Amino acid sequence: MTKSRTLRIALALATAAVLAGCSASATPVPTKKVYTFKDMTVGFIQTGSESGWRAANTSSFNETAKSDNITLKFTDSQNKIENQITAFNTYIADPAVNVIVLAAVDVTGYNDVLTAAKTAGKVVVIEDRRIDAPSNLYYTYIGSDFDKEGNEGAAAMCTALGSGGKNVVEIGGDQGASAAIDRAKGFREGDTACGINILDSQYAAAWDPTVGKSIMEAYLKKYTGKINGVFAHNDELAIAAIQAIDASGLKAGKDVQVVGFDATADGFKYLISGEMSADIECNPLLAPQVFQAALDGLNGVTGQPTWVPSQEGQFFASQGADALKAILATRKY
Ligand code: AHR
Repeated sequence: MTKSRTLRIALALATAAVLAGCSASATPVPTKKVYTFKDMTVGFIQTGSESGWRAANTSSFNETAKSDNITLKFTDSQNKIENQITAFNTYIADPAVNVIVLAAVDVTGYNDVLTAAKTAGKVVVIEDRRIDAPSNLYYTYIGSDFDKEGNEGAAAMCTALGSGGKNVVEIGGDQGASAAIDRAKGFREGDTACGINILDSQYAAAWDPTVGKSIMEAYLKKYTGKINGVFAHNDELAIAAIQAIDASGLKAGKDVQVVGFDATADGFKYLISGEMSADIECNPLLAPQVFQAALDGLNGVTGQPTWVPSQEGQFFASQGADALKAILATRKY
């Protein structure tokens, strides 16, 4: 073969290769957008501002959104589900919002707005309290195992009552909230261990501590000399009960054992004074987990669990004031 023919063939092959390469790049494959936190605009539907726990939960979202450069739109629902439904529809209609986070006032009533949010392509994450809705209507649920908390509260009450009487009165949170429903259920699962007798059970709508104090005052009149323990569904209700007990001439932590939930700074004060016997922690610092889950949802990550239980502990007056003060100094709420 002559040199010139070889050269012509080599040139032809090189040209073909270049054209093939160009034709391949002529139709670019669309690349999938990878979202980052700065692309997230979150509509956060909070229950209200009913407790120290709630304040800490709201702070977790505000602080984390700021540090992660997330745009956060906030709704205080004033503990009314109708306000949460309105907020859901507002965020569904807002083209800027691509994530909706719900802290549910009630355990039911959200299916229609969850369906509408899904149809609108919004990622929905449930935080704090579980809801009774099909799990395919939201990306995931991040919150406490309130039933387990109730079990722990019953065990703590048994320890506090010791060999004494076992008559306990209950001051519940809002009757529609899964936190109240499940703590009540869990406590009753666990109270058989030492034969606790629940004398009476009343609920404070919207977790209102003034209602809780009135409930305790009425108990003290109705069951004079018979109450050995108080099962209060959060720290504010436990503190309200302690105030009523002390005002009646009895001594909380001595004559009547009080068990609360949340383990807030205020709750710790009453553990340290010995007026509250036990405080079962409920973790409010959920925003980092919630925002990461929402980002995964935006990026189409699948296989996430339908529920991510919160990590939390329990604290006892019997740990002693110095130990409890040292623990309190390390806590964020
Ligand atoms: O859902 C958590 C509960 O809600 C807390 O125990 C209570 O303080 C708040 O109202």
